[in-house]
Amino acid sequence: MTKIIFATGNAGKLQEVKKIFENSEYEIISPTDLGNVVEVEETENTFEGNAFLKAEAVYNQFKLPVMADDSGLEIDQLQGRPGVLSARYAGENCTYDDNNDKVIKELEPLAKPYTARFISCAVYYDGAARLSALGKLEGKIISEKRGTNGFGYDPIFVPKDSDKTLAEMTLDEKNSISHRYKAFNELKTMLLKI
Ligand code: IMP
Repeated sequence: MTKIIFATGNAGKLQEVKKIFENSEYEIISPTDLGNVVEVEETENTFEGNAFLKAEAVYNQFKLPVMADDSGLEIDQLQGRPGVLSARYAGENCTYDDNNDKVIKELEPLAKPYTARFISCAVYYDGAARLSALGKLEGKIISEKRGTNGFGYDPIFVPKDSDKTLAEMTLDEKNSISHRYKAFNELKTMLLKI
């Protein structure tokens, strides 16, 4: 088994990516399994740029192959916000609930439907090879939170062709359609070729 570090402190993402790589020849480990990890400031203005910042910082610390993703929610009625600011949309140290409440409040005066998409840019870096893959999930934002699974904006996001929010889906259901699944599944295929 080849070990790959998934550079994240987000337990929800880690659970999803471990599931995507289960039954593969890769073992996904988390930086916390290896000791303290540097906090990486996301200073780039693209998902890909920020994902490589995280992957390179963790590679430089452990010198092992690393994957990372940078992801977020783009809402058309908010001109693409929260976008790359998704994690801290309601401010430093805000909760997922704070972010969801802020989005619901900002959309309130605007006309429905609130079309939106999740984007994940998944990257791989091992000191030599640099790979990246993009995944998207189209859907809409609803005005009340529903469901308790998943993380982040899952309770207010209903994927296209579904009547459930992502937070009302099981991990397997979310993982069969999600932006992160699409990005990491493509990355998995690319890894077989290096
Ligand atoms: P990142 O760690 O900078 O990639 O932050 C991504 C942020 O986007 C998360 O903290 C969530 O707020 C949001 N996000 C990304 N992917 C998802 C998802 O699958 N469900 C819900 N929220 C997500």
